Amino acid sequence: ARNIKILTKNLGTYSKMSLESAKKTAAEQAVNEHVKDNLKIGIGSGSTIVYAVNRLAERVKSENLNVICIPTSFQAKQLILSKDLKLGELETYPELDLAIDGADECDIDLNCIKGGGGCLLQEKIVAFNAKYLVIVADHTKNSEFLTFNYKKIPIEVSPMAYVAIKNRVESLFGGELKLRMALAKAGPCVTDNGNFILDWFFEGSSKTDFDGINRAIQMIPGVVDTGLFIGMAKQAYFGMPDGSVIEK
Ligand code: 5RP
Repeated sequence: ARNIKILTKNLGTYSKMSLESAKKTAAEQAVNEHVKDNLKIGIGSGSTIVYAVNRLAERVKSENLNVICIPTSFQAKQLILSKDLKLGELETYPELDLAIDGADECDIDLNCIKGGGGCLLQEKIVAFNAKYLVIVADHTKNSEFLTFNYKKIPIEVSPMAYVAIKNRVESLFGGELKLRMALAKAGPCVTDNGNFILDWFFEGSSKTDFDGINRAIQMIPGVVDTGLFIGMAKQAYFGMPDGSVIEK
């Protein structure tokens, strides 16, 4: 097990500003350390990745780097275009050198929960096809074990199967699955792939076999994928409240 300082208490006491600056320092350090010329880079989704793309765009311009960016969502695509970065597709570039993405939680072995923004499917596809996945996050995402801080696991499902999958997962593993609603709550949140998200509220422990659970859930017809990213990330950067960055 890695010996890493983990801040888990009083998450609510950090101001929005200090969390934003923690995201920024982590994202910038990751881009500074991992981006080189001639890379094909998977671009994740969420709020932290915005800082990574901003820094990437600065470096591309000032160092005249030739990098191609493959998005993991509509948001990521818009971000790449807005920064005049070169946009690629996985179809054209199926082997990526690097992927940079945020996470909702990242444990001591770099297993992650993702999908808080509903983009888990394309994020997982891009991460799987990248040689090196780097996670960037603020310190509240740094966790001892999965579901310790972030109490839910998003699961992307085919719309017709959401009730059947909810019932099946609850009876197999317990907890409660809730259909994620769109912000205005007028209807379900629909992913970039036309699917629904079930948020599985599940109390794990350091003993929980998330790899086994992930595989079992992926076997249920109608499940498109889960937000469990087991054994995928190679490195993580967490911005700390004092302005420093922890790497693991
Ligand atoms: C989107 C994701 C995001 O990477 C994750 O939710 C973290 O987001 P943020 O950087 O805003 O904290 O998985 O599906």
